[in-house]
Amino acid sequence: MMITEEKFYKNRRNFLKLGAGALVANEAIAEELLKLKELVPSDSEYAFNYVNFYEFSTNKSDCVEYAKKSNLEKRAINIEISGLCENPMTLNDISQFKRVDRVYKLRCVEAWSMNLPWGGFMLKDLIALAKPTKEAKYIKFTSLYDPSIFPDQASSFGVIEYPYVEGLRLDEAMHPLTILATHLYNKPLLAQNGAPIRLVVPWKYGFKYIKSIVKIEFTNTQPISTWQKYNPKEYGFYANVNPNVAHPRWSQARHRVLGSFFKEDTELFNGYEEEVAFLYKDLDLKTNF
Ligand code: MTE
Repeated sequence: MMITEEKFYKNRRNFLKLGAGALVANEAIAEELLKLKELVPSDSEYAFNYVNFYEFSTNKSDCVEYAKKSNLEKRAINIEISGLCENPMTLNDISQFKRVDRVYKLRCVEAWSMNLPWGGFMLKDLIALAKPTKEAKYIKFTSLYDPSIFPDQASSFGVIEYPYVEGLRLDEAMHPLTILATHLYNKPLLAQNGAPIRLVVPWKYGFKYIKSIVKIEFTNTQPISTWQKYNPKEYGFYANVNPNVAHPRWSQARHRVLGSFFKEDTELFNGYEEEVAFLYKDLDLKTNF
């Protein structure tokens, strides 16, 4: 990871004095720590062409071809916010939320990574508007279901079950690093990247970054995500990036950086340990993978 080492470690020492809880509780400090990491974005060609979007295809370049014909970019944001909250609504207008621009590293469970410059807003701002009730413990996200544009949804041999579903614990969703992205490389999301709006949770494997979201529900039971349902032994609910927990079919200790000749060591929580480890202090990361 590209870090201005000296500056980062000097400041990190100061932040650590505040204690981990205080550290992330303070959004300004989270933003400051991110700036200090100074990731250099990968070549945008990777983000636009090396994509996973099973609704289109399991083949990365076919995804791009189908996406071009889908007109997904032209769809307005239209998310049903429901479940255990005081203010259920249909979300269309996101201009009310403060825009954030963040360069995060995306680490795919397939053991490759790229650094992506997202634009969007913090999910916690939407949660504050929806006002979850005391019973709400999780958030469930659902992707668009439209067999007229998604060939794998129309096929009777579809690879996974649709619509694509993901979930987060409410405290993970409220973390200032968790964003809903509408832009990538300063342009509105392309269809293949999950237009018009998708989730970004930088300390988790890429499959948590659910695309083309149409529904967000507050629940009191843990949602079962698409890949977890497909194969619970291989894909867990948490999906936190962890070099010490191997995928049953390959190691997660190292990964290929797209655009670089070299592999690099995978870091716990994808390098965001300082910011997020406190969320999991009571959790066995080996069994809750
Ligand atoms: N969301 C939906 N709806 N369908 C998908 O197939 N693939 C996931 C995630 N979100 C996927 C999805 C996976 S496996 C990854 S790695 C990331 O999207 C990839 O995001 P990108 O193609 O924009 O890099």
